[in-house]
Amino acid sequence: ILVTLYPAGIFAYLNYRVPRTRGDIFQTLIKGLQRLEYRGYDSAGVAVDGSVKDHAASISLYKKTGKVKALDEEIYKNNSIDFEAELDTHFGIAHTRWATHGEPSPLNSHPHRSDKNNEFVVIHNGIITNYKELKKYLVSKGYDFESDTDTEVIPKLIKYLYDNRENDYVSFSTLVERVIQQLEGAFALVFKSIHFPGEAVATRRGSPLLIGVRSQYELSTEQIPVKYNCGKSGSRHPSFSSTCTSPQTYVCEHSNTTPCIAIIEHTNKVIYLEDDDIAVVVEGKLYVHRIKRTAGEDPVRVIQTLQMELQQIMKGNFKAFMQKEIFEQPESVVNTMRGRICFDSNTVILGGLSDHLKEIKRCRRLIVIGCGTSYHAGVATRQILEELTELPVMVELASDFLDRITPVFRDDVCFFISQSGETADTLMALRYCKQRGALTVGVTNTVGSSICRETDCGVHINAGPEVGVASTKAYTSQFVSLIMFGLMMSEDRLSMQQRRLEIINGLKKLPELIKEVLALDDQIKSIADELHHQRSLLVMGRGYNYATCLEGALKIKEITYMHSEGILAGELKHGPLALIDKHMPVIMVIMRDACYKKCHNALQQVTARQGRPIILCCQDDPEISKMAYKTIELPHTVDCLQGIISVIPLQLISFHLAVLRGYDVRLPFLYYLFILLLNGLYIKKNCLRKCPTNWCKTTLFWKE
Ligand code: F6R
Repeated sequence: ILVTLYPAGIFAYLNYRVPRTRGDIFQTLIKGLQRLEYRGYDSAGVAVDGSVKDHAASISLYKKTGKVKALDEEIYKNNSIDFEAELDTHFGIAHTRWATHGEPSPLNSHPHRSDKNNEFVVIHNGIITNYKELKKYLVSKGYDFESDTDTEVIPKLIKYLYDNRENDYVSFSTLVERVIQQLEGAFALVFKSIHFPGEAVATRRGSPLLIGVRSQYELSTEQIPVKYNCGKSGSRHPSFSSTCTSPQTYVCEHSNTTPCIAIIEHTNKVIYLEDDDIAVVVEGKLYVHRIKRTAGEDPVRVIQTLQMELQQIMKGNFKAFMQKEIFEQPESVVNTMRGRICFDSNTVILGGLSDHLKEIKRCRRLIVIGCGTSYHAGVATRQILEELTELPVMVELASDFLDRITPVFRDDVCFFISQSGETADTLMALRYCKQRGALTVGVTNTVGSSICRETDCGVHINAGPEVGVASTKAYTSQFVSLIMFGLMMSEDRLSMQQRRLEIINGLKKLPELIKEVLALDDQIKSIADELHHQRSLLVMGRGYNYATCLEGALKIKEITYMHSEGILAGELKHGPLALIDKHMPVIMVIMRDACYKKCHNALQQVTARQGRPIILCCQDDPEISKMAYKTIELPHTVDCLQGIISVIPLQLISFHLAVLRGYDVRLPFLYYLFILLLNGLYIKKNCLRKCPTNWCKTTLFWKE
């Protein structure tokens, strides 16, 4: 079984009556994790059956901070493991973790266990938003916790349910079914237990999951009928009528943009699981079941054939981290929203802010502080935050905010936006606001960073590690996080329900729209081909898209070394118009929103001076197209989300311009490792210090 999930990765493998040495099994698991290494992670772990000599009925866990290679070395230098022992049937699970709850450490790494005897072990990707309540309950029942993670409630909970089962015939999958009924948030989970040797159970909600099956014989069926339990207890051995006999089974996350590179080398026969499906392998047979059937639901899971070869997938790898991260955005925005937005009930919960929501609602004003791209995320969302929160919102460059010795009051709420969580000016501004008694809120991508530790509360944007020098996916995830904050603040405002609904629907469609924009890459590259000899490039827009212009221009200067300026179109006649002539390349962002007419006026001014604008506009806008030198037509979305769509062509243009101008946007792999290492050391160093604030006495990180 193999599962992967961004930002971390899971790989699991079950062999049924296919003899494999323990060494082979370790190798399969480790190699599976290595295939997922490009996703970034900070620690890794595996669980296998009693690999200690003389201890056949136990489960052994091996976990290590750092690279998979380090875990591999640790396992191989362990003299007590009998690598030669042949196991006829075995189930092994493996995981790489990107820390979100608790520092990177062996204890916080997966697999997590139910108790010291490792009766149940679990690997998880996603977020359990009600873990604090569950933990409190389980602690009151005498279960001890050893990690800072949200995940650990899961093995403890299944053990609690097992210890309190009504009879000995309760199946593994029934226990898992009962577990997931208690969980809120998003998850892909794989369970292993000493009580159910050779059995595997996997399930998902909100996080994708893919099962791969392999058999030396013809598969007995092309589709697996879903069995509905209607909430009744299952028997110890399910006796569903139609199953797939699969001597080797793999489970994997599915994602359209990042095909599962770890599964394809084992099999191309896969099953995509739906939310709340429980897949179980008992005696080599794969079953899928659900608690109850809802109208219109497909009652079968079809075994599909992946139409790709490993070679093909590897070729899909990007030349530079920046390019890879731009293309990751359909996934990274989903990860930002995962477990936070419920698209069925149209509710938004940012766990790290919920305890402070009342205080935030009572505040005098919001101050959003950051540098560079992070500052632009504040500019991009200011208008919608003003609208949804009905509060004054100031957006500040951290350095300028400090230079001005800006007045800050106890009833201010200050947001600190930072991908790294370490930017000195932002950190100093945070300390400055804290001293003045304001509530401080962090929005970062780096767990354990200084901003994360020193703020009162916050939001992890969960974009996954950003390695490329230029910030790309962090920007769109910061953008989405701030929008979610606005939605959470306006949940009880009756007058805003229509607007909220429109935005939530827009967020739901966002990943698909981002993919549409990414599909324009060739067209965008051809525009870069034309521009790359130029010395300067102006980017103009207004309203919701002003931030897009600032951010696009920053990307261009940062990596192409070309002069570039983001200009507010409303300011054109106050000076910048003097720069326009037929030689000056201009990009204009003109989307269908409240500023459309005003942008049209700016366009007329540009063309009147023989300017030849390249226009980012909405699809099917003949008015604009006829005045443009070139257009890049983008899908239309809600006004306040349009900036997420319109920034992507500018990210791509800057990448292509840099390559064409001969600058090396590639980050050498060793440098990448260096960054990860530095990150790990940094977190380690800081976690040794005692956190000074009250809110994190038990955990060093935001209570999310
Ligand atoms: C631009 C870029 C920088 C950062 C800025 C703040 O591509 O990466 O402008 O956005 O240095 O960094 P963080 O977000 O880590 O605080």
